[in-house]
Amino acid sequence: MRQLLLGGNRLSGEIPVALFNLTLLRELDLDSNELGGTLPSDMGEALPNLETLELGGNMIEGHVPASLGNASRLSTINMPVNNFTGHVPSSFGKLQKLYSLNLERNQLRANDDQSWEFLAALSNCSLLDMLSLYGNQLEGVLPDTVGNLSAGIQSLLLGTNNLSGMVPLSIGNLKNLTKFSLAYNGFTGTVEGWITNMKKLQGLNLHGNNFNGSIPFSIGNLTQLSVLYMDNNKFDGVIPSSLGNLRQLSDLDLSYNNLQGNIPKEILASGSMTNCILSYNNLEGVLPPEVGSLQQLTELQLSSNKLTGAIPKTLAQCKQLETIKMDQNFFTEDIPISLGDLQSLTTLNLSHNKLSGAIPTALGDLKILTQLDLSYNHLEGEIPTKGVFKNTTAISLNGNKELCGGVTDLQMPLCPIVSHKKGVPYYMVRVLVPVVGLALLVLLIYFAVFRNLSGRPHSSLPSFHSQFPKVSYKDLLQATSNFSESNLVGRGSCSFVYRGQLLPVNAEVAVKVFELEMQGADISFMSECEALRSTRHRNILPILSVCSTIDYKGNPFKAIVYEFMPNGDLKTWLHPASDLEDPHYLGIIQRVNVAINIADALDYLHHDCERHIIHCDLKPSNILLDADMVAHLGDFSISRVCVQTSSQSSAGNYSSPVNSASVNGTIGYIAPEYAGGSHVSTSGDVYSYGVLLLEMLTGKSPTDPMFNNGLNIIYYVENNLPDNIFRVVDAYLQEESEALAPAYTEEQNAVYQCFLSLLKVAVSCALQDPSERISMREVSKKLNGVKMSLPFE
Ligand SMILES: *[C@@H]1O[C@H](CO)[C@@H](O)[C@H](O)[C@H]1NC(C)=O
Ligand SMILES: *[C@@H]1O[C@H](CO)[C@@H](O)[C@H](O)[C@H]1NC(C)=O
Ligand SMILES: *[C@@H]1O[C@H](CO)[C@@H](O)[C@H](O)[C@H]1NC(C)=O
Ligand SMILES: *[C@@H]1O[C@H](CO)[C@@H](O)[C@H](O)[C@H]1NC(C)=O
Ligand SMILES: *[C@@H]1O[C@H](CO)[C@@H](O)[C@H](O)[C@H]1NC(C)=O
Ligand SMILES: *[C@@H]1O[C@H](CO)[C@@H](O)[C@H](O)[C@H]1NC(C)=O
Ligand SMILES: *[C@@H]1O[C@H](CO)[C@@H](O)[C@H](O)[C@H]1NC(C)=O
Ligand SMILES: *[C@@H]1O[C@H](CO)[C@@H](O)[C@H](O)[C@H]1NC(C)=O
Ligand SMILES: *[C@@H]1O[C@H](CO)[C@@H](O)[C@H](O)[C@H]1NC(C)=O
Ligand SMILES: *[C@@H]1O[C@H](CO)[C@@H](O)[C@H](O)[C@H]1NC(C)=O
Ligand SMILES: *[C@@H]1O[C@H](CO)[C@@H](O)[C@H](O)[C@H]1NC(C)=O
Ligand SMILES: *[C@@H]1O[C@H](CO)[C@@H](O)[C@H](O)[C@H]1NC(C)=O
Repeated sequence: MRQLLLGGNRLSGEIPVALFNLTLLRELDLDSNELGGTLPSDMGEALPNLETLELGGNMIEGHVPASLGNASRLSTINMPVNNFTGHVPSSFGKLQKLYSLNLERNQLRANDDQSWEFLAALSNCSLLDMLSLYGNQLEGVLPDTVGNLSAGIQSLLLGTNNLSGMVPLSIGNLKNLTKFSLAYNGFTGTVEGWITNMKKLQGLNLHGNNFNGSIPFSIGNLTQLSVLYMDNNKFDGVIPSSLGNLRQLSDLDLSYNNLQGNIPKEILASGSMTNCILSYNNLEGVLPPEVGSLQQLTELQLSSNKLTGAIPKTLAQCKQLETIKMDQNFFTEDIPISLGDLQSLTTLNLSHNKLSGAIPTALGDLKILTQLDLSYNHLEGEIPTKGVFKNTTAISLNGNKELCGGVTDLQMPLCPIVSHKKGVPYYMVRVLVPVVGLALLVLLIYFAVFRNLSGRPHSSLPSFHSQFPKVSYKDLLQATSNFSESNLVGRGSCSFVYRGQLLPVNAEVAVKVFELEMQGADISFMSECEALRSTRHRNILPILSVCSTIDYKGNPFKAIVYEFMPNGDLKTWLHPASDLEDPHYLGIIQRVNVAINIADALDYLHHDCERHIIHCDLKPSNILLDADMVAHLGDFSISRVCVQTSSQSSAGNYSSPVNSASVNGTIGYIAPEYAGGSHVSTSGDVYSYGVLLLEMLTGKSPTDPMFNNGLNIIYYVENNLPDNIFRVVDAYLQEESEALAPAYTEEQNAVYQCFLSLLKVAVSCALQDPSERISMREVSKKLNGVKMSLPFE
């Protein structure tokens, strides 16, 4: 046995000792089970060929076996979220191939020279890419040797420990770091000495330490940064305007420090920000109107500063805003009426300011506003009565002396009745009516002529972000009952799929959540977004929304929301579980229809789509059936978008410029030429389609145990063409055809002809030589022809 992959089950008890007799084992994955007990201390000698060890998310106790350092082929040791105690073995320094060491969320200690030895030892592992010890019991000063870790290391996560003192300057050697966290420790000192070296950082988390000094101006050189948490420290000085150089910045949290001065307008001009949190500092001056260019902003927190001036009207241009907290400042003037345009707003706190004027009634039109705090201002006039203002527990208006009216539950004084002036003089009516009438007419014409015109560019050029209704992490949490197991309907190589009821769109949905800690998950997410960005076809699984944000723990969260397909995937229909009492099968017509649906989808992707798309992972589990049994092609996580090149062959094939050495299709369906390193091309999809069609007709999976010793599903069918096809056609289909068409009739013959034609199409898709395969356009045409010839419909 070389591989044993039992992750994501409910295995419990101890790991059986017999398993440690599998001396040839290379990959052991028992992730996410309920396994307990301890690991044998001689594990490394018992499994000397081990390359990948995945034991995360169990309840394993005891020491991490030092003998693993003897299993010299180990490249991955991932055992997060267990109950390991003791030290990290320094013998891991012997693992020349070590690439990923993840021991986060255990109870491992390091508090003296001996227990820290492992860090120096790991400097031997020149391939180390990821080291996570977050959530353990590392104590005291971080040793200088941290700077001797592999210069290529990309992730270093040491958060939630008990580290203190200064960060050793040697850490600046780690110039390739993209993810770096020291959050929730007791580090002190300045960051200036080391931070600027890490020019590739994408995520930096220093939350909850005692860092002091100023935020260096040179932080503007870390142009890849997208998440920057420096909150809950003792930083002082000003916010450097160079943060405006960070074009990728989406999350900025500098709250709970001692920052002074103005909010630089430059940082508000970087359009990618989704969360901007600057609360609890000593910031002063006005909020620059440039805030309006933060088109992706969902959260703006400026509470407890010394900001003055009016709330900029431009704030209403940030249409995605869900949360605004600007309480405890010195804002003056009116609340901008335009805030009533922020349809996504759920929380608005403007309390403890010096705002004056009336409360805009438009705030009552905001459908999902559930928390509105306008207390302790100088607001006056009538309280609106619609929307959020109906719910007295959702609003807070205390400390405004001149407010009146509102719903009766508020028990505010009635507003004084404004007495209307005497009648309007007749001559004014005579002058005003024609003037006003003419003005209205002009307006009307203006709207009729120009409104449609100016509205058009918007709708014809949808950007990816505005194309879909926005859903938040919270919406998805609600929809799937906190991603509960009972809502889990599927699991991919780096994603989970949940079923749920999504309130904002009021629809049943499938939510694919990408496991971002898995390698390649980010790429899958991007590939899928990229492929589906501009595709629209009735046989392609429709996306309802995309959510790319951070979860409540501050980790990145990416998910895609699809329409829910109530009839599940094709695999389940073709191979129903044998213990089902009343298994449902697909009939001939249904199978032909599914085959046509998928051929149409591929024809569209290969030939009609603006950018030619190659799916790369066609198989029954990626085909989903809606309530009407119409098939939809899904899972574009390894798909490729191609540029049209001059090298396309006359058959109209396109190939991706990217070398396909890294294409990971599915065994049985992946085209043979990919193994030899050929470029990804549409003819690879055609091959997979041929195998799929053979599977649908024979009822046999290409990985069925009967296919061995050189026999595969293609030869199996070819060997029986054309005379013995009933040896290979799914027995269930044969029964059906006999029931539908009495034997030895013309109809029976027509059914036979139909099977024959379908098998021939399938075989000509699955030819060994890619240049001989037919195109999906031809397939689609042929299948439609076959369908027409069927004697029953
Ligand atoms: C494991 O191997 C040892 C010796 O190689 C043998 O004595 C033992 O019976 C094996 N255990 C199991 C459970 O197979
Ligand atoms: C680890 O052990 C502690 C008690 O020692 C227990 O409370 C905790 O739930 C355990 N954690 C896991 C993941 O099993
Ligand atoms: C295996 O590792 C342990 C601890 O690191 C060491 O004591 C032992 O000598 C090693 N055994 C072999 C065969 O290398
Ligand atoms: C580093 O590697 C060398 C050679 O592979 C080995 O001899 C040495 O013991 C290793 N050092 C540590 C600290 O593990
Ligand atoms: C670690 O780096 C320091 C310099 O920072 C160097 O003097 C020392 O020799 C290095 N140690 C190892 C084991 O490479
Ligand atoms: C750092 O990353 C770059 C590419 O991102 C790579 O070329 C380089 O070799 C890496 N440095 C080290 C020391 O691994
Ligand atoms: C952190 O370490 C200090 C001593 O260095 C100790 O007093 C404190 O209890 C530790 N905190 C935790 C959470 O372990
Ligand atoms: C940072 O804090 C340390 C001790 O807490 C102090 O010695 C140092 O002077 C401070 N540095 C700055 C720049 O405030
Ligand atoms: C960025 O780096 C360059 C060269 O390393 C340096 O000259 C420049 O001052 C840096 N910029 C900032 C904002 O620190
Ligand atoms: C608004 O902020 C104040 C502090 O300034 C806080 O007391 C209040 O609870 C907040 N209101 C809401 C609705 O969160
Ligand atoms: C009123 O608002 C409170 C607080 O936001 C909320 O818990 C409650 O459900 C709301 N009541 C109604 C009837 O909407
Ligand atoms: C393909 O799989 C291999 C090994 O399973 C993995 O190393 C590689 O990153 C994968 N490539 C892609 C593009 O997912």
